[in-house]
Amino acid sequence: MCFHFTCLNSLRFILLSDACHSSSCKLFFSNDPVKIVKAKGQYMYDENGRRYLDCINNVAHVGHCHPDIVKAAHEQNQLLNTNSRYLHDNLVDYAERLSKTLPEKLCIFYFLNSGSEANDLALRLARQYTKHEDIIVLDHAYHGHLTSLIDISPYKFRNLEGQKEWVHVAPVPDTYRGLYREDHEDSVTAYANEVKNIIEQAHKRGRKIAAFFVESLPSVGGQIIPPAGYFQKVAEHVRKAGGVFIADEIQVGFGRVGKHFWAFQLQGEDFIPDIVTMGKPIGNGHPIACVATTKEIAEAFASTGVEYFNTFGGNPVSCAIGLAVLDVIEKEQLQAHATEVGNFLMKLLKEQKIKHPIIGDVRGSGLFIGVDLIKDQAQRTPATEEAEHLITRLKEEYILLSTDGPGRNVLKFKPPMCFNMEDAKFVVDTIDKLLTGNAGQNCLAEGCCQF
Ligand SMILES: Cc1ncc(COP(=O)(O)O)c(C=O)c1O
Repeated sequence: MCFHFTCLNSLRFILLSDACHSSSCKLFFSNDPVKIVKAKGQYMYDENGRRYLDCINNVAHVGHCHPDIVKAAHEQNQLLNTNSRYLHDNLVDYAERLSKTLPEKLCIFYFLNSGSEANDLALRLARQYTKHEDIIVLDHAYHGHLTSLIDISPYKFRNLEGQKEWVHVAPVPDTYRGLYREDHEDSVTAYANEVKNIIEQAHKRGRKIAAFFVESLPSVGGQIIPPAGYFQKVAEHVRKAGGVFIADEIQVGFGRVGKHFWAFQLQGEDFIPDIVTMGKPIGNGHPIACVATTKEIAEAFASTGVEYFNTFGGNPVSCAIGLAVLDVIEKEQLQAHATEVGNFLMKLLKEQKIKHPIIGDVRGSGLFIGVDLIKDQAQRTPATEEAEHLITRLKEEYILLSTDGPGRNVLKFKPPMCFNMEDAKFVVDTIDKLLTGNAGQNCLAEGCCQF
């Protein structure tokens, strides 16, 4: 009875989705999608009350439906919600609180509604300040869904019309499967020199660089940890060419990396970007985004005399929620928690790497972790189908995980920050069980339990 109800309900949803939704909007697990009806902390519940462990939702940063966030939204909603053309304490308090997390020179804030809006504004700021047009990005990067951002997202434009003349693509500083690997004597300089060469080539064609636009830790690119010192060297080349450094923290900011509040800080204290963009976790699910930059860049932007207005950006409700998110991170010491649980999860995953040759690499910082699955040690060929199969089987064990990277073979962990030690143990034990194949029908490949 229950089974039939589930099937009919899901079928109704799929039929309705097909009829009303564009087919370019995709579902997770499209062959057998999950209908989630509520969530709490790091757990999500389907229509039949089954509990799933959420290992991927970095938007629900401090936990799904956190009571403090819900309360802050509700209280401010009862009082006032309007645009930022009126004075409001929440906006000022929020800007002040954010500025305390950042290097001093990043002291001007613009509030917006989505990561894409933030990155689009970052492009405008960079171009207005430098009076240059060209942008350097990393291969496989994704920076948002607006036209301007599809143009700087190789992950997208490679499947469309291709690369614009003002876009330049640098190799990902991936020391596991990139151009220069862990055995290279100086991968930092080698990767930074690739950017230097790109700038020189662009100059020969009369082009001028406005910005190097990069995720502080490339996520869609495969959960990559750039070697420390790379950003400093790149920034030196880019600034010499009159450009600025834009750090996209939309996936990885707000203490996720544990050691630091911002992922760009993993590069070292001597590195400061010119523009930082924030989104996703900033509002714990409420649509907020932010751009932080320097006085000089903001003044150049204002000097055109053209007003910047954003109907919803910086409204009192969004700012109340943003403040509540910062409060919870502090109160529950989630940054330290990310270090502790992340280190534990990495340790368990590294033990699995010794046991299962399909695990080629385990990398990460805090609760941003990638597990690179390979078909063979020599070539490090991405184990794409196996990764896909593994996440499907994990879903059957009520664990939500997904893949990333150009080979779609990197398991990506970026759970809500309340993810705990037991969750880590549960997910790794389940991965072990599936990879070992001792669990009868829980083995990954049909008819064969071993990879
Ligand atoms: C690194 C990065 N930048 C920007 C965006 C765009 O953010 P939004 O979907 O909120 O517009 C995303 C979204 O996935 C992202 O991963």
